[in-house]
Amino acid sequence: MPEGQKIRIAVNGYGVIGKRVAGAVARQQDMSMIGVSDVVTDWRARMVTKNGLSLFGATPEHVGAMRAAGLEVAGTLDELLGQVDVVVDCTPKHIAAKNIDLYRRRGLKFIVQGGEKHSTTGHSFVAESNCVSALDREATRVVSCNTTSIVRTLTALKRAGLLQRARGTLLRRATDPWESHESGIMNTLVPEPEIPSHQGPDAQTVDPGLDVVTMAVKVPETLAHLHYWSVQMTRPAGKEEVLDAFRTSSRIAFISMSEGLVALNAVKELMADLGRPHANLYEVALWADMLRVQDDELFYAYMVDNQAIVIPETIDAIRALIGELREGAESIAMTNAALGVGGSLIGAGVGEPVRR
Ligand SMILES: NC(=O)c1ccc[n+]([C@@H]2O[C@H](COP(=O)([O-])OP(=O)(O)OC[C@H]3O[C@@H](n4cnc5c(N)ncnc54)[C@H](O)[C@@H]3O)[C@@H](O)[C@H]2O)c1
Repeated sequence: MPEGQKIRIAVNGYGVIGKRVAGAVARQQDMSMIGVSDVVTDWRARMVTKNGLSLFGATPEHVGAMRAAGLEVAGTLDELLGQVDVVVDCTPKHIAAKNIDLYRRRGLKFIVQGGEKHSTTGHSFVAESNCVSALDREATRVVSCNTTSIVRTLTALKRAGLLQRARGTLLRRATDPWESHESGIMNTLVPEPEIPSHQGPDAQTVDPGLDVVTMAVKVPETLAHLHYWSVQMTRPAGKEEVLDAFRTSSRIAFISMSEGLVALNAVKELMADLGRPHANLYEVALWADMLRVQDDELFYAYMVDNQAIVIPETIDAIRALIGELREGAESIAMTNAALGVGGSLIGAGVGEPVRR
């Protein structure tokens, strides 16, 4: 990038993830949000211009339909791509893979999200684990919400020399809140048909050295995922030592039952009260008071805001592909500062400050 020039970004797909990515890009000092592309013509597309962003249609036909619906449209996706350095594809599962030829023809760097396969880019990203291996690459995949949380937490234990193997049970939200009228489950629990569920193997696409097995069940709520983990440590350790290991991650926030954060809805309410956009919980919210150590075994639970956790990772992935910052920690610190991540959430030991 020429000295002083901001990284120019396009977001393709302004849905649950795309709108949060676009909002986060707009908060970064070294990035410029050039435009957003989509296919819809209703209120969702209207929010693009309402939020001060330029709207583009995925194809000339979509541009026509958007204009017919009275939307102000700046052009086609292809025209948008001619104005940017990086495109973040946030279209639904499997659509992004079909867009890759278009990005390559334009010689663009691109990011896909966790709905795509590892093979679409050959690199899967979680900032605190493997930011450096994404430097200067053409593309990467920001792994799914659950996988991001797994890699963040296990990387912290690994860094402290405590991780031998980890086994987790995931309670997965049934659908996203705004889509609750279209799908989801009620009055039942739906186990994933296979053990291991796909998240453990997916974590190994980021760090093949992780010994991790996951099992998952879909639950009838929409707020967030809840994980329960059982970890075999390399040696007996004290609770404080384990907490110190987690404290080395700026994206793991401690919460406590004793502070009244006793359920997913309470934590989400806290994020809203903190004034975060969309009540985003970017961190893994881990119950510090619930965590137990028994000799060399460790047990803990945490909450994953599936709609928000991958947003800081996506920002760091943009910087890694551009390659201006050579240290992952520098980008993580910039992203955290812009999004208000890290440090104490509300004091009183909740989301304690990072101690290195
Ligand atoms: N929703 C989550 O909790 C979550 C969490 C982590 C990762 N992801 C991943 O992020 C990606 C996006 O998921 P999402 O939940 O934001 O989806 P979404 O359905 O909420 O949003 C997708 C957006 O893309 C638009 N779109 C559809 N086809 C398009 C096309 N051809 N060109 C341009 N835009 C198009 C849709 O209109 C919509 O606005 C997927 O890979 C998903 O697996 C989702």
